[in-house]
Amino acid sequence: MLREPVIIYVFSGSGNTWTVAREIADVFLDGGVSTELRPLERSAPEDSAKAGTLGLAFPVAMFTAYPFVWKFIEALPDGRGKRIFMVDTLAGFSGGIVGPLKRALSQKGYRPIGAKEIRMPSNYSRKEPEGEKDAQIRAKGLKKAASFARDLISGSASWRSIPILSDIIKEMGYRSSGAAWRSARKKFPLATDGEKCSRCGLCEQLCPVGNITMSGLPVFGDTCVFCQRCISFCPGNAISVVGKPFVPYRGMEPAALLEFLGIR
Ligand SMILES: Cc1cc2nc3c(=O)[nH]c(=O)nc-3n(C[C@H](O)[C@H](O)[C@H](O)COP(=O)(O)O)c2cc1C
Ligand code: SF4
Ligand code: SF4
Repeated sequence: MLREPVIIYVFSGSGNTWTVAREIADVFLDGGVSTELRPLERSAPEDSAKAGTLGLAFPVAMFTAYPFVWKFIEALPDGRGKRIFMVDTLAGFSGGIVGPLKRALSQKGYRPIGAKEIRMPSNYSRKEPEGEKDAQIRAKGLKKAASFARDLISGSASWRSIPILSDIIKEMGYRSSGAAWRSARKKFPLATDGEKCSRCGLCEQLCPVGNITMSGLPVFGDTCVFCQRCISFCPGNAISVVGKPFVPYRGMEPAALLEFLGIR
């Protein structure tokens, strides 16, 4: 059962997770449950105290959640028995989330009421533009999200206990300064095509970790976690990953992202 209001903190790099969280919120609203989506990376964790039930929605990366997502979660205030649920979206396999997150939130005094991992089209290393198969995966994912939302309303959702191995998997991508992310940055730096870039500065506003500063063209720092935001939503298609030429993926309309993030 949900206690109102429900506040769902969402991070979505290329739009899949937002789409799933929107579906869950729509089922709640249809069921008369007051629900709000907030952009995780632009929110203060302590403001979550006003929620009756908390939701967390984020993509899987490096088999776990992005380091800044973990930071947000670790900065949440004491739970004092507050109900909490999580949903992640992924292309294939996670392993370092559901168990570690349940443990972390329980230690903080939250009451975990449900966790769901939802397959959506991959946003990374795509060779092909979106097609029929992606549409099928998305439709199945949204069905699963709606069913999870109904289970949360009825109180029949669950949050599995996952063996301790998942804590080891989590460590791989948990720190932005860790070896896995450092190695990825070295191997696959981001680059801008000066011919395509209009110098609009949107990428700087979109980056969740402040890794982009405008100096004529965008300049990339050393904190990138390859969330795909800048690549997916650059209006000129000007940003790419050197050494990983792929078709950028958009899981939501740019206008919806800007509205969600409060960017005019
Ligand atoms: C840098 C990066 C790492 C990823 N790592 C994983 C992974 O370990 N396992 C997986 O199943 N999917 C992985 N994915 C795929 C995304 O989790 C998946 O496409 C997700 O739905 C994207 O959500 P978003 O559109 O909300 O950003 C990764 C994607 C990126 C960009
Ligand atoms: S969003 Fe694209 S066009 Fe705009 S400044 Fe960044 S790279 Fe250039
Ligand atoms: S630079 Fe681009 S891909 Fe890297 S974290 Fe920022 S928005 Fe994401």
